[in-house]
Amino acid sequence: MSDRSQLLDAGRPFAFDETREAEFTRLEPRYPERDSLIMPALWLVQEQQGWISREAMEYVAERTGAYHAQVFELATFYTMYHLRPPGKHHICICRTLSCYLREKQLLVDWLAANLDLVPGAVTEDGRFSLEEVECLGHCGSAPVVQVDGVFYEDMDEEKLGALIEDLRSEAI
Ligand code: FES
Repeated sequence: MSDRSQLLDAGRPFAFDETREAEFTRLEPRYPERDSLIMPALWLVQEQQGWISREAMEYVAERTGAYHAQVFELATFYTMYHLRPPGKHHICICRTLSCYLREKQLLVDWLAANLDLVPGAVTEDGRFSLEEVECLGHCGSAPVVQVDGVFYEDMDEEKLGALIEDLRSEAI
């Protein structure tokens, strides 16, 4: 699993655009407990920027009135939050028990061998990124891979290869 404690700077301050500001304002009254607003606010950041930079975490802390450490804890704990710009196609491989026992490592190794892609990284051409994640909730059909939010169950190297080939053949 990649090191999620290393934050990346975007090199510019973050602020919600008009659409996200309106959504944040709509959500605020629903979360009288301000800490509960951190996760939806992080989600809005990711929707806008594609990932969550250090500056954006500071912004979320300011907007929600939370401690920076609380925002950091949530953003780094949940792998659904991207802490660096993802590739065009984001691949998640479940690393939890059922998938571990059903050889999820073969899939990770296949990506390393064929795309030179390791967990936490993006391919040189920016087309694929990989993250190892906790249980994706489809343990009965392990090993499970999620690509761009779509689940692929009972995966093996051959199916993964075919899937990557399909994605590669898309127009850039
Ligand atoms: S252990 Fe992999 S989906 Fe649950």
